Order: sequence, then structure tokens, then C-alpha cells
Amino acid sequence: MTKKRVFSGIQPTGNLHLGNYLGAIKNWVKGQEEKENFFCVVDLHSLTVPQDPDDLRFQTRSLAAWLLAAGIDPDKSTLFIQSHVRAHAEGCWLLNCITPLGWLQRMTQFKDKAAKQESVLTGLLDYPVLMAGDIIFYDADEVPVGEDQKQHVELTRDIAQRFNSLYGQEFFVIPKPVIPEAGARVMGLDNPAAKMSKSLAHLRGHAVRLLDDPKEIGRSFKRAVTDSGQEIVFSDDPEKAGVNNLLGIYKAITDKSEAEVLADFADARGYGDLKKRVAEVVIAEIAPIRERYDRLMADPAELDNLLARGAEQAAAVSNPKVDQMKEIMGLVLPVIGVQ
Ligand code: TYM
Repeated sequence: MTKKRVFSGIQPTGNLHLGNYLGAIKNWVKGQEEKENFFCVVDLHSLTVPQDPDDLRFQTRSLAAWLLAAGIDPDKSTLFIQSHVRAHAEGCWLLNCITPLGWLQRMTQFKDKAAKQESVLTGLLDYPVLMAGDIIFYDADEVPVGEDQKQHVELTRDIAQRFNSLYGQEFFVIPKPVIPEAGARVMGLDNPAAKMSKSLAHLRGHAVRLLDDPKEIGRSFKRAVTDSGQEIVFSDDPEKAGVNNLLGIYKAITDKSEAEVLADFADARGYGDLKKRVAEVVIAEIAPIRERYDRLMADPAELDNLLARGAEQAAAVSNPKVDQMKEIMGLVLPVIGVQ
């Protein structure tokens, strides 16, 4: 039986946080054995908002190191940098030419991000088309992401279907989003009504960042916003969003059922105890990742070699797919040697 193919990506900008880890990375690591995986540091996506070049260069390598430290095994998964493989930017243009503008203008992330900026770059609107290409140029069946990316994966399906119907063939695989049961939407510790976000992760008490030391993590949880009651329960009530978020984090880290989680807290003395115990499991999970990260960053040549190997493996899949796409669309491919 052929293995299911998985593609997912993460932007190398902002501070990597617990939401990224629980919503995406932890599940990438889990699924490595039984699937064929492509994981991508999507540096081209980061350019859709202004970046400092030196910072972007550092963050790109740093993110690759975090992913390896978290357990992505280059012998089981292909890990690479998006801009190292020409198919992504080139194929995005081809997809642009079959994607209606209205589809992009409807994207909630675009509307949210654009509303916060004075001058919106064309790349920001086009962001989901680049993402669609990432996925479909690999014929991915599954896309493990957090809840906030669901709409983009649905758009990806629409774009793939449109191409298939315009050109009358099943050329692209129609992928599906895979959203974890727990950890799909980790909320800000300072404001459990808003999701934990990279762009706010520099603010005190908002996020648990993977690079935080245990003391800092303890402090962030201690300050976490809860409610004036004392009931430790999973709940959809907006009043209880803080407690619900803490329990959700505990559940996602420990892989326990709701009943098991509640049993663990049956003897807790109030929210202080809840926060302390959640902090403990988070620290135990993150501390070894942080140690491995420091070791990987100390050997940049080894990291670059791994990424070069990943890019080669990724290019072998997606570049021919984009060439085939060009041919289907009526472009004349160059004779061998003229590339
Ligand atoms: P990015 O870099 O914003 O986030 C990376 C992953 O982390 C998840 N995530 C969260 N999960 C739970 N709770 C949160 N608070 C939280 N915040 C972020 C995201 O859902 C995501 O899975 N557009 C993508 C990157 C991308 C991509 C792709 C993903 C580009 N090409 C192809 C999948 C397939 C993004 O900006 O993710």
C-alpha cells in the first residue's frame, strides 16, 4: 500500500510558540512513521509583510533547527526551505492565472491582516495561492494545520478542482486539512478570547515561546487570565475561556482524554494549582527541545547540509509537476539544457 502524502508549512517570522507546536508541529512529528512527509519553512510567505533581511535569514535557519529539535527526522521526512525549490514561486504564477480575484478577497486572514496595515502588498492577497501551490505541487493528501489555516486549505481544494476541470483531467490531488482534536486553537494566555499569535508573542504574558526558559514559562502561566469562579471544567462559555484554554493545552501535551484530564485535576486546589500543573507539563515537554535546538544552532554547516538534501528531495517531486502543468496550460518547455 502506498503511504499517504503529507505537506505542511510554517513561516519563519515571529516567535515560535506553543500554539504552533500543539496545533501543527507535534502532529507532524507524530505522523512521521506511517506517512510520506514534506515539511517546509515558508520563507516566501514571510515576504508578504515587510521583513528585515538579516532577521529573516536568521529566523529561517532557526526555524529549521526548531523543527529538527522538536523531532522532525530528516531520514523520515523531507524538511526544506521553500525558496530553495523553484516550483513554488514559478507554479504560483501559473495558479494565479486560474484563480478568481474574488476568492482571495474573501479570505478572513487577508481581511484581518490588511485591516491592520496602511499599505497592503500584492503578495499578502496572493498568499493563499502560494500556499495552495505548496500543497498541490506535491500531490499531498493531507495537510496537518491548526484551525486558523482551514479556510486556506479549503481554498486550495477549490483551486485544484478548478484546474482539473478547466483542463479536463485529474491532474491535482484534492487535499484535506487535518486538524488536531486538541491544540487546534491555543488562545493567548493574556486574552483567552484571541488566538495565541506570533505577532503578539513578544508581549509579556501573551504566549509561551519555545525559547522561553522554565522560569519564564512558569511566570506566563501564573499570570494567565482566568475567571472569578473556581470550577475546573472544559467549557464553551466565553467566561470560562481561560480555564478551557489551560485544560486544552494540558490535554494536547499529555494526549489524554477529557475525562482523564479532569481526573488529574480533581484534587487541585483552585486555579493557582491548575496553572502550576499545566506549566509543569509544558516545561517538561519544551525543555529538551530547547536543549537540542541550542546544539543544532551551534553547527550551522550541518544544518545547511540537511536543508540542501531536503531541497533536492522536494525539487525532485515538485519541479516536474510544475513542468507538466506548464505543458498542460500550453507553454512550450525549453529543450533540455536551456533552463
Ligand atoms: P503559521 O506560520 O502562521 O503557523 C504555523 C502552524 O501553526 C498553527 N497555529 C496554531 N495552532 C493552534 N493554535 C494557535 N494559536 C496557532 N497559531 C498558529 C497554524 O495553523 C499552522 O498550522 N499559511 C501557513 C503556512 C503555510 C502552510 C503551507 C501550511 C504555507 N504553506 C502549506 C500548510 C500547508 C501559516 O502562516 O502558518
